[in-house]
Amino acid sequence: MNRTTATEKLKRQNTAFKSLMILHWLMAAFIFLLFLTGVFVAHFSQVGLLARLSPFLHQSFGMLFLMLLIARIFLLLRLLRYKYSRRSPKVTPNWLKATILHSSLYFFMLIAPLSGFFLRNFIGLDTTLLGIPLPSVFVSDDRWVELTRDSHFWSSYIFLVFIFLHVLTYWKVVWINVRRRFIDLRKASSKKES
Ligand code: HEM
Ligand code: HEM
Repeated sequence: MNRTTATEKLKRQNTAFKSLMILHWLMAAFIFLLFLTGVFVAHFSQVGLLARLSPFLHQSFGMLFLMLLIARIFLLLRLLRYKYSRRSPKVTPNWLKATILHSSLYFFMLIAPLSGFFLRNFIGLDTTLLGIPLPSVFVSDDRWVELTRDSHFWSSYIFLVFIFLHVLTYWKVVWINVRRRFIDLRKASSKKES
């Protein structure tokens, strides 16, 4: 491969990684909102305005999350193609650990919203995305309600445990980057002043 093609490929890989990270932080914000509204839906649904607002927001955030996830999977596959088209990954214990943890996070990113959507199907409730009704996949059926309710509960809270493990792994990296940016900004502003 000539040098121009290799540089072009690296550029594309960096762009794909940047876009993936934008989706990463956007979806992390959605997850925070989903846990907040989810607890309201399950435990405080008798309280006035919240009884209407929390399911509306929870479903809408959840379905938007599912759409962003599809875009994220496409971006990830593209990034992996750029990264490993010429050589396979070096399988080290650290690589294996990160791959297992990230795959588990993707698994729960899919199962948590799907089980919530199926739960509403089985209860016989419509799901809306910002007020737009979405077609159901299953007809209402009492026999499946408990199973899907338990699946939604457990997939959400096990997901939270994996998020916690992930944050524990990366908080140092993020903190070092934030500090480096802050120091660069201070240097730039003191240069301007002098
Ligand atoms: C990543 C996406 C999602 C997460 C992390 C999430 C999380 C949660 C959490 C933490 C609860 C409270 C559980 C409890 O403490 O009992 C909850 C409840 C609920 N969620 Fe979700 N949710 C997601 C997506 C969805 C979607 C897409 C829907 C439906 C379209 C949905 C429907 C529901 C319903 C109906 C409840 C009430 C369950 C009950 O009555 O016990 N969720 N969710
Ligand atoms: C809230 C839910 C979160 C989920 C579901 C999540 C999931 C993931 C996943 C699957 C990746 C692999 C890249 C990708 O495919 O997107 C990743 C990368 C990363 N995450 Fe998170 N993450 C979350 C929150 C956080 C938080 C709060 C931090 C800060 C400590 C963080 C720091 C990072 C970093 C630094 C990377 C880049 C790793 C690399 O250089 O390849 N994540 N995250």
